[in-house]
Amino acid sequence: MFKQIFITTIITCVFVGGNPLSKIINGNEADPNSIPYQVGIFFKRANNKTTFCGGALISEYDVLTAAHCTNGSILAEVVLGAHNIWKEEPSQIRIISSDFITHDNYKVGVDDIALIRLRNPIKLTDQINIINLPSRQQETESFLNENATITGWGLLSDDAPTISDHLYVAQTKIMDNRLCGIAYFGSIRDSHICSESYGNLGAACDGDSGGPLVVDDILVGLVSFGSVLGCESQWPTVYSRVTSYLDWIKDHSTIKMK
Ligand SMILES: *[C@@H]1O[C@H](CO)[C@@H](O)[C@H](O)[C@H]1NC(C)=O
Ligand SMILES: *[C@@H]1O[C@H](CO)[C@@H](O)[C@H](O)[C@H]1NC(C)=O
Repeated sequence: MFKQIFITTIITCVFVGGNPLSKIINGNEADPNSIPYQVGIFFKRANNKTTFCGGALISEYDVLTAAHCTNGSILAEVVLGAHNIWKEEPSQIRIISSDFITHDNYKVGVDDIALIRLRNPIKLTDQINIINLPSRQQETESFLNENATITGWGLLSDDAPTISDHLYVAQTKIMDNRLCGIAYFGSIRDSHICSESYGNLGAACDGDSGGPLVVDDILVGLVSFGSVLGCESQWPTVYSRVTSYLDWIKDHSTIKMK
């Protein structure tokens, strides 16, 4: 436990206008509105600070994000259909919600998953759409070596002063949990999924927390943490593994699953 805290760090939500932040590393600006399930979320925290996270729209009523984003927050402004997160674009909808469900067992880097429930159903458009969850048949799939996509407005480099204006996308690859566990000194569980960031592969950074990791149009992970060595260190990015939480999602969202 000491080692985990010492060696790894939560990809903290960006303090807007503040110091330590993150961006997608090794990515490219996304084609505007090409990732219709991506949401950006401004959280108002109990201490009055504002933080920023990503999330994924999984139904007309439900956004999945990280527990370290909702925990300690009192209000969320959920931005759907955005490319430039700071502008009011015609494609966007902004919704305020304080209806959070943070996983009961959430601890630093563990069960880092939460839902934000929206009071009224989102009207789905070309720019705002849901991402599929893994099916029950895929519940035991590892997704090992699959190509995967990560997206977010998080920091573009370790020394970036703030989040990216525009949504970025990077390609990555699902790695073996055992190898990832070596990189993180044993703090990787079955309920984690990791992506490689060697060479030209991408990595998540601060501000990408809670955002989607997608394989073949299926949501397989939510950004949880990276290495204290920095987002550009080529250390794996660690996500909550969505297949480990299908029951939790079924129990707490409006989604009907078998
Ligand atoms: C969750 O939030 C509570 C209240 O702000 C805080 O005491 C607790 O340490 C947080 N949990 C984690 C794992 O950060
Ligand atoms: C992953 O992407 C690379 C580069 O585009 C491609 O060569 C490879 O065949 C892909 N692998 C899978 C499993 O789809």
